[in-house]
Amino acid sequence: MPTRTCCGVNLERYPMSAPELSLIRNNRLESLTRPVRVIAVAGGKGGVGKTSVSVNLATALSRRGRRVVLFDGDLGLANADVMLGLSPNYTLAHVLAGERTLEEVLVEAPQGFHLLPAASGSAELAQLGPEEHLGLVRAFSTLPMQIDTLIVDTAPGLHHGVLQFAQAAQHVLIVLCDEPASLTDAYALVKVLSRKHGVSRFHVLANQCRGERTGAGLFERFARVTARFLDVTLEFAGEVPSDEALRRAVREQRPVLDAYPASPAARAFKKLAGQADTWAIPDGPRGNIEFFVERLVRVGRARPVAVS
Ligand SMILES: Nc1ncnc2c1ncn2[C@@H]1O[C@H](COP(=O)(O)OP(=O)(O)O)[C@@H](O)[C@H]1O
Ligand SMILES: [Mg+2]
Repeated sequence: MPTRTCCGVNLERYPMSAPELSLIRNNRLESLTRPVRVIAVAGGKGGVGKTSVSVNLATALSRRGRRVVLFDGDLGLANADVMLGLSPNYTLAHVLAGERTLEEVLVEAPQGFHLLPAASGSAELAQLGPEEHLGLVRAFSTLPMQIDTLIVDTAPGLHHGVLQFAQAAQHVLIVLCDEPASLTDAYALVKVLSRKHGVSRFHVLANQCRGERTGAGLFERFARVTARFLDVTLEFAGEVPSDEALRRAVREQRPVLDAYPASPAARAFKKLAGQADTWAIPDGPRGNIEFFVERLVRVGRARPVAVS
């Protein structure tokens, strides 16, 4: 009997699991092919507010009726679960090891979206072998729920994982704050993504804005430097004020949108979600979740190169 293969992979080595079979038999494959908006939240510097933005954007988009999964892509210091007051038993590492299904690893947040927890210090996706890659793609393709938005919270710095998520996502949201280190780190990130990873469009959110120095002003400063040296298009995604309510909500392990819905920060996140909801979703098969994971995996194979 001839060996069954698909995309160069010997299928005999990967017997179908029960969820896969039921998905195929029940003809529920539409959840795989539905387009998904993938937003990577990045910023270069730690502490600018990437996780706060990810958690609150996930909350705000869920309130708008979106089916959101928040992927904690900070493999170094995964803390989206802490900000949500959740204690996941399993992480993505268990999925990759074949010990749990993605469904078992996803945790439902009280705010209505699902969190995909990453293991702190787990192997980078770049280090996965072909079988684990296939496992990851399969894990996503057997998800029983429909997703329309995937938000990926990323690590600080220019680690390979950050570049990988940003390159695979359709939208990169850069979080900036009014500190010299935030501007230089965000610039370095935009530079490496545009020069080496083919990302040329960025949404920029000004966070922790105070007093007279507005987010628009910060954006202008950042846009001037990038326009001078880089070939990129930046779009202002608005501003979030520095707000004690947000700090309090972090301590209470709740999204500010949930804990203090009338606070200035919560209102700003609602506005951001309204805008993000208009960001384009690619049509056809290039926009589905399987394609995102495949792209993530493909990008992961190419090691980063230094940028001068
Ligand atoms: N808009 C804001 N107003 C007040 N404090 C903020 C705001 N955004 C972030 N912070 C503070 O900064 C800390 C770090 O934010 P976090 O989202 O963890 O950053 P990152 O993920 O970029 O490292 C938060 O715990 C919070 O105290
Ligand atoms: Mg973070």
